[in-house]
Amino acid sequence: MAKILIADDDPTILSLLNKILTSKGHDVQLAEHGGVAEELLKSDSFDLLISDIKMEPVDGMQLLRKTRQMRPHVGVIMLTAYATVTTAVEAMKEGAFDYLPKPFKIDELLATVKRAIDYQHSLSEQTGGTPPVEAKKYFGNIVAESEGMVNVCEMVKRVAPTKTTIMVTGQSGTGKELVAEALHSHSARSDGPFVPVNCAALPETLIESELFGHVKGAFTGANANKDGLFEAAKGGTIFLDEINSIPLQLQSKLLRAIQTKKIRKVGGNQEFEVDVRIVAASNQNLETLVKEGTFREDLFYRLSVISIEIPPLKQRPEDVLALTQHFIEQELEGGEYPAIDNAVLAILQNYSWPGNVRELENVIQHCLTFLKDNKITKETLPSKLIISYEENPGAQNAALTGEFEKGKSLKAFLRAKEKEYLKNVINTMGGDKVKAAQELDISLATLYRKLPEEKQD
Ligand SMILES: Nc1ncnc2c1ncn2[C@@H]1O[C@H](COP(=O)(O)OP(=O)(O)OP(=O)(O)O)[C@@H](O)[C@H]1O
Ligand SMILES: [Mg+2]
Repeated sequence: MAKILIADDDPTILSLLNKILTSKGHDVQLAEHGGVAEELLKSDSFDLLISDIKMEPVDGMQLLRKTRQMRPHVGVIMLTAYATVTTAVEAMKEGAFDYLPKPFKIDELLATVKRAIDYQHSLSEQTGGTPPVEAKKYFGNIVAESEGMVNVCEMVKRVAPTKTTIMVTGQSGTGKELVAEALHSHSARSDGPFVPVNCAALPETLIESELFGHVKGAFTGANANKDGLFEAAKGGTIFLDEINSIPLQLQSKLLRAIQTKKIRKVGGNQEFEVDVRIVAASNQNLETLVKEGTFREDLFYRLSVISIEIPPLKQRPEDVLALTQHFIEQELEGGEYPAIDNAVLAILQNYSWPGNVRELENVIQHCLTFLKDNKITKETLPSKLIISYEENPGAQNAALTGEFEKGKSLKAFLRAKEKEYLKNVINTMGGDKVKAAQELDISLATLYRKLPEEKQD
């Protein structure tokens, strides 16, 4: 049983929702617009808010923002007419748990309400009753020390339990598959299969039958009926990796499958329903492909209802050290943790990581293979890192001088400046971080979060 607040300016909807949810034992209160709901939220505590988007004078988006500020613990489900789905998606980005298009089916409503309540409960269990605001080093298997990666994890946490199609973008090796797996394992489908499909690796002639299956005799060599990967993912998640390489003619079939949730086998004459959540990834910019005419615009919009962008590793230097530790621990298998030379850390942080996290993982394996006296020294590093460092030892410092560096956002620049300042203050305080934090008027935890490398000594 949960305490639920419903805001809608349509009295029929209010009374309908009231009836359905009360009959399930929930404690329901009603508000005829956002203003009334806001007052009720101030004076009473709720588990869940179900709110219409279009209301006068205070609309659903305003109410959502107020609720996130005042009562971050309250889960929010938005109700929306189909035409305003884009707004509903905006709402999810602002922290709504999910949306229900009107008119909704009763079982769909009840399932969404249940998921929202379960999710809110799991949050308060994890955090002992407070919202998860502090940056965490880990989210499942994902190392996330930098602000960019913490944001990715927050987004995963928020959208994993929904049924929405999700697009994961990022350069090669940034962790797209890892994020797709996390989306699956944090969803209600986690007991079902996770089926990764590399669309680029499937030959064009076979891709349709691989995805949707075929019936006997559909083409030469189709000697028996065969299920496709969509069916293999039934009750779980299909991860369509490198979706950009799906041929145009198949894109329309995929679009139809997403829209209708039904598929048709090659050579078959019947469509049938499969319950699959789709997560897609691309290491090429789909918007560019849409402009070039090689990717369907309607499919692009369908897939990108929610998109999660993983920043390249060079934009999140804080993660380099945390990932280094993570990969060492992974490889150690119970052995003794090796010492790491400071010079090595400087080189790792300085490198531009064109192959992103996968490249770092390989570098650590290389280091561990050439370990001497259980020490990671410069000599254990692949030579390309050393050469790159010798050629450009101040790559990180270039950001500090304010020189233009391609691909470096203003945020990354400011973060680098901030780091430099923090380090100066620590030095001025003779290395006393407690004092430094006091001078800076921030907590020690914040200081460590901003300077993870200082945590080590
Ligand atoms: N934040 C992270 N924490 C821990 N491990 C990570 C993280 N990001 C990536 N990895 C690891 O790095 C490797 C590459 O990640 P993954 O395969 O998910 O990247 P990808 O974006 O799918 O790459 P590609 O575009 O080449 O397919 C994997 O071994 C993955 O476990
Ligand atoms: Mg991948």
